[in-house]
Amino acid sequence: MSERRPIIAGNWKMHKDHLEAIQLVQKLAYHLEEHDYEGQDIVVCPSFVALRAIQNLIQADKLPIELGAQTVHAEDEGAFTGEVSARMLARLDVRYVIVGHSERRALFGESDEVVNGKLRAVHKHGMVPILCVGETLEQRDAGQAVEIVAEQLRGSLAGVKLAEAQDLVVAYEPVWAIGTGRTASSADAQELCAAVRGVLAELFGQAIADGIRVQYGGSVKPGNVRELMSQPDIDGALVGGASLSSEDFALIVGHRRR
Ligand code: PGA
Repeated sequence: MSERRPIIAGNWKMHKDHLEAIQLVQKLAYHLEEHDYEGQDIVVCPSFVALRAIQNLIQADKLPIELGAQTVHAEDEGAFTGEVSARMLARLDVRYVIVGHSERRALFGESDEVVNGKLRAVHKHGMVPILCVGETLEQRDAGQAVEIVAEQLRGSLAGVKLAEAQDLVVAYEPVWAIGTGRTASSADAQELCAAVRGVLAELFGQAIADGIRVQYGGSVKPGNVRELMSQPDIDGALVGGASLSSEDFALIVGHRRR
């Protein structure tokens, strides 16, 4: 299905205070002008403390950029010291929320069940989850990549109903490719993204699955994005390290013209 609108998202992780974040988005807006970014969704996911500043900047300068958050709590409010709710994020014009990133799964013990609760909260407040799935190197070497990713999808999406395909983005991110400089080959990435779509078809029916955008993530750079994005089941990229450079992120967004 060629009508899927590409979506390039920058996951800034725990980088950039709110002043640095403003600078980065201003520079990104400048560099985007040098590229063909039409017809794609461009998302930045700063830390919570920078969301308000970036919301203001996007609105004031009418930038072609949407706001994303990196995680969320499942409850709307309550005694959850340090947490941020989907209701709060929606009030800041956040449109996308990353859930189930492998760093959250590995470092903060998030299970598929926890991810499922977060994803439902994101939907409840009218935002779009970017659901991350991916296997470790051991799992890949043991030939379990497809099985692990399918299990993560089924667990994280248990009981979830989608009104339309636009209500979900899935990011396939092999854990061994994140922040390592080691990218999955475009063939391996395509194979797993196609497998993701197969599971989505089981869960939501083929028509919806055909419209859901599946991103690849893991050491995406200006030099490899084009080949990855040319694969039939890869509709976008979730970019970590390279999204911290305005030039590189603009080049990734503008990959079609080069
Ligand atoms: P990376 O991170 O691009 O630095 O590998 C990707 C991610 O963690 O989403």
